[in-house]
Amino acid sequence: MLKNQKPIGIYDSGIGGLTVMKAVRNLLPNEDIIYFGDTAHLPYGDKSTEAIQSYSIKIANFLLSQECKVILIACNSASAAAYKLLKEYVGSKAHVLNVIDPMVSLVAEQYAQKTVGLIGTKQTVNSNVYAKKINDLQLGITLKSLATPLLAPMIEEGYAEKNILNNVIADYLANPTLEGIEALILGCTHYPLIMQSIQQFYEGKVAVLDSSAVVARSLRGLLEMQNMLNMQENKGLSQFYVSDYTQSFETTTQLFFGETVSLKHYPLWE
Ligand code: DGL
Repeated sequence: MLKNQKPIGIYDSGIGGLTVMKAVRNLLPNEDIIYFGDTAHLPYGDKSTEAIQSYSIKIANFLLSQECKVILIACNSASAAAYKLLKEYVGSKAHVLNVIDPMVSLVAEQYAQKTVGLIGTKQTVNSNVYAKKINDLQLGITLKSLATPLLAPMIEEGYAEKNILNNVIADYLANPTLEGIEALILGCTHYPLIMQSIQQFYEGKVAVLDSSAVVARSLRGLLEMQNMLNMQENKGLSQFYVSDYTQSFETTTQLFFGETVSLKHYPLWE
């Protein structure tokens, strides 16, 4: 297969990464995309680094077996825990991208000398990956991070529009740790679904930064630079695999992808 016609592989702990997939689909309509949701091991946010690394290697092997030209880690927790290892492991077989670096670049461009907040899972926040990358820039950016582990499961259960979730959001965002921030990074691929509630909480005083669009743009930039854009005329094919199948996962795709899609069960761990 010609290199530029090979598919893009995207994976996440489950269905949340579909927010990234949606942005990629919109920006790169001609690309074939294979999505893998590791629903058998969800949530990654509470797992150890070692566990997430071993899941990621297995998923990468699957995506490589499908001849993916790029593997995009559409999960902050997995980007924090496994990106470095996966990049080394995959080597020249495919390009590996994460959802953290494009956001760090955006923060570098727009928030030098400013104070920025981050919310995400325990894995993402405790890994300190955002803090390390932002400190390395030496742009005088202060990062204030808070783990918000209740949000992802509540969003998945369809609570995004409910008052009880607004209360949980308000409680987290009122935490003194986040005092004085000028922007807030949504460091979890589930959070675009609660972007509006977060914006309402801040009443326009804090910019809310969602990574899905910047990640999609950075992927397009890479494909352009490497001459790997798929120039076919037809609409690209989308395939969705999960490591554990339930009807409820399929229903949840509507929330994150904007339409219900058919999930194929691929029992990677059996
Ligand atoms: N989508 C994951 C992330 O971006 C969070 C969900 C999970 O804990 O698996 O961190």
